[in-house]
Amino acid sequence: MGKPVRLALLGCGTVGSEVVRLLHEQAADLAARVGAPIEIAGVAVRRPNRARGDLPVDPALFTTDALGLVKRDDVDVVVEVVGGIEPARTWLVEALRSGKSAVTANKALLAEDGGTLHDAAAEGGADLFYEASVAGAIPLLRPLRDSLHGDSITRVTGIVNGTTNFILSAMDATGAGLTEALEEATALGYAEADPTADVEGFDAAAKAAILASLAFHTRVGADDVHREGITEVSAADMASAKAMGCTIKLLCIAERGPGADGAESVSVRVHPAMIPRSHPLASVGDAFNAVFVEAVAAGQLMFYGRGAGGAPTASAVLGDIVAVARNRLAGVHTASESAYADLPIRPMGEAVTRYHISLDVADRAGVLAAVAGVFARHDVSIATVRQSGRDADASLVIVTHRAPDAALAATVEELRGLDVVRSIASVLRVEGGQ
Ligand code: NDP
Ligand code: HSE
Repeated sequence: MGKPVRLALLGCGTVGSEVVRLLHEQAADLAARVGAPIEIAGVAVRRPNRARGDLPVDPALFTTDALGLVKRDDVDVVVEVVGGIEPARTWLVEALRSGKSAVTANKALLAEDGGTLHDAAAEGGADLFYEASVAGAIPLLRPLRDSLHGDSITRVTGIVNGTTNFILSAMDATGAGLTEALEEATALGYAEADPTADVEGFDAAAKAAILASLAFHTRVGADDVHREGITEVSAADMASAKAMGCTIKLLCIAERGPGADGAESVSVRVHPAMIPRSHPLASVGDAFNAVFVEAVAAGQLMFYGRGAGGAPTASAVLGDIVAVARNRLAGVHTASESAYADLPIRPMGEAVTRYHISLDVADRAGVLAAVAGVFARHDVSIATVRQSGRDADASLVIVTHRAPDAALAATVEELRGLDVVRSIASVLRVEGGQ
C-alpha cells in the first residue's frame, strides 16, 4: 500500500455529503483499487456547526477557511463541490497551479471560465477531472475525452437537465401546464427553490458548452451557446406535438460541420424541440438524462442514466478521485484539455432545422395564400398545413422543411405584420426524423 492520498473536500451539501459517505463505506475497496488509502484532510463548508446527521466524518475536520485548506502541505487532491464562480475559481486555480490535482462538479464555472482552470492545470502539471459536471452519474466526459479520441464526433444531442425533463415528461403524460408540472417537480424535490437556471436553460447551456468543447477540441463557453428555456412551452404545444406523433424535450445540440461560408465550424444550442416518439431521446422520461453521440467511425452511441442527485453525482466524483489518485501514485497526469482544432462558432442564424409554427388567423378566402406567400418569400418550404376551428377562432399549424434559423426568424417577423394573422401562438423547432 502506498502513502495515503489526502483530500481537501470543499463543500458538504447534497453532493459532498454523499462523497463523504461513499469514501467511508467503500474505503477498503477504494484503497485496493488505487493502491493507497484515500483520507479526508479537511472539509470546507459555510456553516461548520450545522447538524449533518450521522455523516461519517470527524467534526474536527470542518473549517470555513477553504483557501487555507487548499494550501495545506498535507493535501494532495482538491475536490470542489460548492458551486458558483467565485470563490470556487480561486480555490481551484490555487490548487492546480501548485500541482495539486482537482476534481469538480462545477459546470457553471467550467462553462464560464474553463480556460483559466485548464491553463492552471497545465501550468502546475496537475489533473483536472470533472465527470460529474455533465449528466451526473452517466460516464460521458471520459468516453468523449478518451474512448472516442481516435474518432471524429459530428453531433451531440442530449437531454442534460433533469428538472426540465421531469416537467416536460409530466406535461406529456398528464396534459398539465408548465406551472402545474413545475409545482410537482418542486414538491418532489427535483426543482430548486429558485428554478431559473433549469427552466431558463442556463444549466443545460453550461453543460452544452462543456460537451461541445470536449467533442470538437475547441474552447466553447456558455456565451457561445444559443439558449432558450422551456417557459414558453404550453399544454397546447404538447398536444400539438402529440398530434404529430412527437413529444417536446429541452435539447442541447452541438454540431460540427461547414457553415454558410463552407468553412468548418461549431454550432451549439439549447432550446425546446419537438422530436418524433420513435427517436431514442423521446422515451427518456422523469428526471433522467440521455446523450446521443454521432461519430464518423463509431456511428451512433447513446448514454443514459441519472443526471442529478447526491449519490449519482457522487459516484462520478468518486470515479474521478480514483483516477487522479492513481495518476498521483504513478507520478503522471492527463492533459485536461484538447483545444487544438480551435474552430469558429457558427451564429444561430445558420443553424438548419425544421419548424412548427402555430398561428391564430381569420378564416376567410386568401388567408392561406397570404401566409404561404410569406414563407415563400423567405425561401422556407412548407411541409404540412393543418387548420382547426373557423371564423374568428381558426388556427393554422404549419410544419416546414429544413431551413436556416435566420430565414425562419424573418418569416415570423413578417407574419407578425400580416393583417390576417391575429397572433403567433408558438414557434418550435422540430428535430430528428426527416
Ligand atoms: P449544495 O448547495 O447542496 O452544497 C453546497 C456546499 O458548499 C454546502 O456544504 C455549503 O456549506 C458549501 N459552501 C457554500 N458556500 C461556501 C463557501 N463560501 N465556503 C465553503 N463552503 C461553502 O450544492 P450541491 O451539493 O447540490 O452542488 C455542489 C456542486 O455540484 C455544484 O457545482 C453543482 O452544480 C454540482 N452538481 C450538483 C448536482 C446535484 O444533483 N445536486 C448534480 C451535478 C452537479 P454548508 O453545508 O455549510 O451550507
Ligand atoms: N439542476 C440540475 C438538473 C442538477 O436538474 O439536471 C444536475 O446538474
